[in-house]
Parts: sequence; structure tokens; C-alpha cells
Amino acid sequence: MTIGIDKMGFYTPHYVLDMTDLANARGDDPAKYHIGIGQSEMAVVPPTQDVVTMAANATEQILDATDRDQIDLILFATESGIDNSKAGAVYLQHLLKLSEHSRAIEIKQACYSATAALQLGKDYLKAHPGKRVLVIAADIARYGLETAGEITQGGGAVAMIMSENPRILAISDESTYLTRDVMDFWRPVYATEARVDGHYSANVYTDFFTDVWTRFSDTYHHEISDFDAMLFHLPFSKMGLKALRTVLPEDQTVADKLTSQFDQARLWNRHVGNLYTGSLYLSLLSLLAHGDLHAGSQLGLFSYGSGAEGEFFTGTIQADYQEGFDKAAIQTLLDKRTPVSVAEYERIFKDSLPTNGQDRALDISHDSAKYVLGGIKNEQRQYLVQ
Ligand code: CAA
Repeated sequence: MTIGIDKMGFYTPHYVLDMTDLANARGDDPAKYHIGIGQSEMAVVPPTQDVVTMAANATEQILDATDRDQIDLILFATESGIDNSKAGAVYLQHLLKLSEHSRAIEIKQACYSATAALQLGKDYLKAHPGKRVLVIAADIARYGLETAGEITQGGGAVAMIMSENPRILAISDESTYLTRDVMDFWRPVYATEARVDGHYSANVYTDFFTDVWTRFSDTYHHEISDFDAMLFHLPFSKMGLKALRTVLPEDQTVADKLTSQFDQARLWNRHVGNLYTGSLYLSLLSLLAHGDLHAGSQLGLFSYGSGAEGEFFTGTIQADYQEGFDKAAIQTLLDKRTPVSVAEYERIFKDSLPTNGQDRALDISHDSAKYVLGGIKNEQRQYLVQ
């Protein structure tokens, strides 16, 4: 029996900032952003979208009657959750009218937790034949205006339905992982913006990749040439390229193949920015949409979450993988976004919801997404379905 990802959906809000405009406003060479960081555009998240609405908008696209009947575990992976107690998964279950006879929880470990959710979901499905698991990876990456991390912001949600005999990717039991208490990136409970030691975090990322990849190849006797594509957590798309280059073999044919597949795997990330938990999975979607794949293609995936935890695991592309996601719908979502100026981006960035218990109604007229946040009343988020 194979277990893995049967369907994938993606959502990112309707505003986008051109990185050339941001570079010009900050007095930087645009080539630093486009080439040095590897980002062309960045999602700008309005207050009418949070991780719950983005998760609902991503999941809505892929849910069918069978999913509604069989999903009995919802794992909501995020590091920008909206409540310190109640799980985003509970709001999602209600908004999407999923079965009340399901387990719905939120899990956290920086950008890594969606991978933990997939691995836990795989084991759950082995123990619960015939069921399905909904895994959400939803986040808003916020560092602050005019900070070093500003150019690596973004936001969005990836929804994944896991099942037996999946259409997209069978996940193997071979994986290696590493957890080590490191202060490279964190966000205290009182802060809406991440604290980060940027260059250090990039070094820790690479060290973790080296560790789990080396242990993986030693344990399971795999070489880099065994893979048709290597995927990475992409806080910014150049980060994955830097990690990939550490393992490219001398055989130029293999090196070129893996570099070319990686370029396809970072195409959509270039236009969205960091999704934290969802970045690796947007990269997977990008590869599915643009890469050179066939039934049986072997993928190596590196997941990293600051703080820090890393995992290297593998998956096999399934014959019907193109039926498991909607390439045209995702491309349309990206193409139809409204470009904002740097001044508008800064205004939206500062337009946060009150954190002092006050009510606030939000203007939702600009946001045509199905699920939106209408404001806060009596310290409760007011979700609306349009
Ligand atoms: N043309 C082309 N390239 C240029 C250039 C130009 N004119 N100017 C600079 N560059 C290149 C630099 O050479 C550099 O490339 P390399 O790293 O390959 O050498 C790249 O552009 C970036 O330049 P800097 O290092 O000078 O950039 P910076 O000091 O402004 O910081 C950053 C970059 C550290 C990534 C910063 O944006 C940051 O702190 N980001 C947030 C932290 C982060 O994303 N960390 C990643 C690992 S942690 C993680 O993965 C978890 C997570 O999601 C947060």
C-alpha cells in the first residue's frame, strides 16, 4: 500500500509587490533581489486575510464529497497562528463544514511543521485504513519594514489531502531528521514580527541540510544521482540553490538536470516569497507544474524550520499526478493579483488588527476571496464567506 499526497491546493492573497520597486525604494540594486535573493515578486497580505482564511481558500479548491466523508484528521501547520490556545484547524473545520467527528489540531515548529504533519499523517493512515488526512501549511512571513529580512517576506497557504494510493506523491518511509536548540530565528509571543540572525540562519540551514543528507545517503545508500529532482524549503529561492550546489556531483549531466529541475521548482516561489511552512510545498507544486517528471520520478525533499529542525525525505511521483492539482487555476491566481506600490505595501503592512482587545470592522470590499476576515468583535475574529 502506498500513502502520500493525493491532492494539493494553493492560495495567496490578491496583492503583489514587484521586487524592482522595493529595491529602488530601498536604494538597492534590483539584481540583488532578483539574482542574489532570487525573488521577483512578493505577496502582500491585507488584514482581510489570515492563516485561517488563506487555509480555507486553498482547501476549498480541492475538497470533494469523498474527502468530506473520509477526512477525520486535520493538521494545521503554522508559525503565524491567530490564537495561543484554539487551533486554526477548528476554525477551518467549521468554515469548510468538515465533519465534526474529526480531530483538528495545530502544530508548530517554524517552517518545518508541515513536514512533521505529513509524516504523522502517513503513519496515521497506516493505522486507519480508508481515512484521509488534511494537512495545511499556512503562514504570513513578516520581518518588518526596512529590515534585512524585508525582502524575504510573503504569505499564502498550501492544502494537501493525504490518502492511500495517492495521485501525486507516494511518501517513502526513508527519512532522516535533526533537532537542535538554535537561536537563528524566533518570534516571542508578544511580537508580530520575527526576530532573526539572518546570515547565521542561512548557515544553520545549510549545516542542517548537510547533516540530514549525509545521514540519509549513509543510512539508505542513496547517491544524489538517484534523484530526478531535489526540492528545498525556500525562504527565498536562492537559499535552495545554495544548498543544492553543496551536493551537485562532478557528472555535469546530472548536475545540469538537477539544476534545471530546481529552476522549475522555484518558479512560483519567486512570485510569492516566503510562505514559511508552505514554501517547500509551493516548490513541489511548481515542480509538478513545470518540471520534467513521469510516473516513478524520485524526489528528494529538504524541510527546514529555524530553531531548529531539518528533515530529508523522499517521494515517488505517481502516474496521475497532473490530476491532483490545477496548474491553470494557480497560474491565474498569480497572474490576476493587483500590483501595489511600495507606499501601498507599507500602508497595508502597518494596517494590523488591534491587539488591545478593541473591536474593529474591516473593509472587505477590495477582497473577493471566498473566505475573508471581517474584523474583530468581542475579541473574536469575524470570518465571512462571500
Ligand atoms: N547583484 C547580484 N547579487 C547580489 C548583488 C547584486 N547587485 N548584491 C548582493 N548580491 C547577493 C549577495 O552576494 C548575496 O548572495 P550570496 O548569499 O549567494 O553570497 C545575496 O545577494 C544576499 O546579499 P546579502 O547577504 O548582502 O543580503 P542581506 O545582508 O541583505 O541579507 C538575508 C540577506 C540574510 C537572507 C536577509 O534577507 C534575512 O535575514 N532574511 C531572513 C532570514 C532568512 O530567510 N534566513 C534563511 C534561513 S532560515 C529559514 O529558512 C527559516 C525561514 O523560513 C525564516
